[in-house]
Amino acid sequence: MTGPMTGPITGRTLRVALLGCGVVGSQVARILTEQADDLTARIGARPEIVGIAVRRPQRSRDVPVDPALFTTDAHALVTRGDVDVVVEVIGGIEPARSLILAALESGASVATANKALLAEDGATLFAAAEKAGRDIYFEAAVAGAIPILRPLRESLAGDRVRRVLGIVNGTTNFILDRMDSTGAGFSEALEEAQELGYAEADPTADVEGFDAAAKAAILASLAFHTRVTVADVHREGITDVSAADIASARDMGCVVKLLAICDLTDGDGGSMVSARVHPAMIPLSHPLASVREAYNAVFVESEAAGQLMFYGPGAGGAPTASAVLGDLVTIARNRLDEVRGVGESTYAQCAIRPMGETRTRYHVAIDVDDRAGVLASVAQVFAEHDVSIQTVRQEGRDDDAELVIVSHTAADAALAATVQGLRELAAVRDVTSVMRVEGEAE
Ligand code: HSE
Repeated sequence: MTGPMTGPITGRTLRVALLGCGVVGSQVARILTEQADDLTARIGARPEIVGIAVRRPQRSRDVPVDPALFTTDAHALVTRGDVDVVVEVIGGIEPARSLILAALESGASVATANKALLAEDGATLFAAAEKAGRDIYFEAAVAGAIPILRPLRESLAGDRVRRVLGIVNGTTNFILDRMDSTGAGFSEALEEAQELGYAEADPTADVEGFDAAAKAAILASLAFHTRVTVADVHREGITDVSAADIASARDMGCVVKLLAICDLTDGDGGSMVSARVHPAMIPLSHPLASVREAYNAVFVESEAAGQLMFYGPGAGGAPTASAVLGDLVTIARNRLDEVRGVGESTYAQCAIRPMGETRTRYHVAIDVDDRAGVLASVAQVFAEHDVSIQTVRQEGRDDDAELVIVSHTAADAALAATVQGLRELAAVRDVTSVMRVEGEAE
């Protein structure tokens, strides 16, 4: 069989307004233009860009569109009344939120890549879409090109997801991967990431975990049919991860990754949800350990399906545009059929479990005096906090020793208190590495 698979082509035009023409927006415009025939066949109507809102319309851009389409008046563009789909790729909270709300009120559906806005105030956007009877899709907001939100919202809607474990930030994965493969420290690896264009000049959003925390909130909301905002996500970045931590992980057959971890657990009054972002050791045998460089992956554990992994490029113009255009095609088909896609699903209304109550394991490396009774005093601190030790390894040096202790699963607060107690022991010279351990059977 040759030629595109066509449905009925209506002769109608599908009017698209683009907000932003940067790294992602320019690729959306390019693919929409270059692949217009295929997209027409798939949608059943010809997509046409009717305007592109940018801050600097005169700036030279390598985008195959009529320069007359560029405008600085984004509000006028989204409220002109004849736009079918607004694609928002400017990011940030404002003016993106006001523009999306105005677009929905004016009858347009929306495709957005705006993780920060969805994680902070998704509820307002979903309510506006519901009121307007329009769609809001956002596949590109988490893990770039990787189809993960639609699988959680639709494909897994008949299953019960218990855990989502993701590497959802490419910049930090690149840095940690470089630290692991070259022995470099954090600053050196960050510098290399900046030189290669993986990290921004101001890397705060990535290295401090803000970007991953927004994505964790979105993943937890969809996976568990409840509302989780970025304020509910415990966040720790990778700036304190040292070459010693990475070496310690290696010795244990592990690798360090910045993980977004979303869990559904039983609580006294019903199911509870936790969402956290922090560096953690995972065993080399875990599928996420093989996610190298700037790639992303999301590992999902659900009751019926078991373990699933979604892998691919989590950033970049064309990969992110791929996700945006997938949304655009779905939204466009819905417009033609005069139906709406899946809206927000928050019926479960789970309470948020505080970080101190989440259960994890700790790896602790300490320099201690090498003399009788030290190991007993260290073990006593664990016992005082009701934390069970899984393994202890000791390497002797001249007059001191390094102890590497891995705990069994315990409440995070108890583990943190244990580390605090160790720091106060006279026999402990230094706590050289503390890191959570995830993704491993006890
Ligand atoms: N800065 C992000 C990353 C991509 O490094 O993965 C956009 O979310």
